Amino acid sequence: MTRRVRLGVNIDHVATVRNARGGVHPDPVRAAEEAIGAGADGITAHLREDRRHITDADITALSELCRRLDRPLNLEMAVTAEMLDIALRHRPHAACLVPERREEVTTEGGLAVAGNEPRIAPVVQALSEAGVRVSLFIEPSEDQVEAAAAVGAHVVEFHTGRYCHLPAAERAAEFDRLAAAAAQASILGLEVHAGHGLDYDTAAEVLAIPEIVELNIGHFLIGEAVFVGLGASIFRMRKAMAEATGVRS
Ligand code: PXP
Repeated sequence: MTRRVRLGVNIDHVATVRNARGGVHPDPVRAAEEAIGAGADGITAHLREDRRHITDADITALSELCRRLDRPLNLEMAVTAEMLDIALRHRPHAACLVPERREEVTTEGGLAVAGNEPRIAPVVQALSEAGVRVSLFIEPSEDQVEAAAAVGAHVVEFHTGRYCHLPAAERAAEFDRLAAAAAQASILGLEVHAGHGLDYDTAAEVLAIPEIVELNIGHFLIGEAVFVGLGASIFRMRKAMAEATGVRS
């Protein structure tokens, strides 16, 4: 069965490079516009509590850009009062709730929804009432999927980091875990996304899971852009995704 899977491009690392010199170049908003021009279906940005890459001003500008170009902005955010306040002010198309520890290099592991329902459910509810689609970034495990449905999320984004970091020959068990969790999520009425660590090959591989309708990819695309340009890296990713899902690119 053919299906067109959406690609959300995460532009955090454009801001990482910009911030290394404390100036304005390269501008993540310009990168977002170029990404959309090259075939990104939406833009993803993580406003971290320590503002190490994306800033509050970036979120304001990205919100305006996505509104102007009529593309969804997916705001990744920690489950904190400050971030909820910011999300409610901007009302992005979607908010993806992620775990966040200051000392981590990137988002390590999924959000522990199971066991933390009383903390997470009110945030999901507040965002939903503001018209924001809520996604929970979780490990592909039965208890997390069940908890995501129980707190009223619309979407689960499965953390593919573990899958991507395994040697290719050792990925089968993790693939099965992702596939089983995706099937369970779909039965519970949750939309299924995936992201973290994906490259051309692993993105194509995980798309063998039929429930996945969106991938969010950042670090690899921005890294590839150093060699081939951002438009070309996104174009190649779209092509890999289209081939994996039987769609003509
Ligand atoms: N999805 C979520 C929820 C993330 O936190 C990240 C990393 O910011 C990504 C997707 C993209 O991961 P990567 O940059 O490794 O492609």
